[in-house]
Amino acid sequence: MQVPDYDPTFTSELVARCDNRPEMLVQILHGIVHKFSFVPKAAITQLANELNLSRADVHGVVSYYDDFRTERPGRHIVKLCQAEACQAMGSRELTRHAKQTLDLDLHESNASFTLLPVFCLGNCACSPAIMIDGHTYGNVNKERFDKLLRQFDLDDAGQQA
Ligand code: FES
Repeated sequence: MQVPDYDPTFTSELVARCDNRPEMLVQILHGIVHKFSFVPKAAITQLANELNLSRADVHGVVSYYDDFRTERPGRHIVKLCQAEACQAMGSRELTRHAKQTLDLDLHESNASFTLLPVFCLGNCACSPAIMIDGHTYGNVNKERFDKLLRQFDLDDAGQQA
């Protein structure tokens, strides 16, 4: 997944489509995250100016929602379910393994991966469940996790070849 560089024109067009209404901030932020995978600091200042809000107002909304990351994510977003059914089936151990394998803590990123906790992926019957780039995988043990990561690494290598 290639993340494009931030383009302020995209945000201005989004704001204009919402008639510069401050109450549309959350929807506009979703649009920015959909396009760029995160909310750059420049976008926070821009939104404050264009929606006639303070930077603190915009920042408050951005920091309230987990989906509005302010750091550039890795090429792949890995979400590990931390909810009850998955915990009962070993998600804590899987999370430890994922953190160790990727050398990342939850909410951290490197160039390839971002590791995030999530609370139920609606796949409880196949716990423990994870999601990579929007695709849900069930019954994920350490071996399956490693295999999935290798697959995504290989896909990246194939795209760069
Ligand atoms: S508790 Fe993990 S998918 Fe529902």
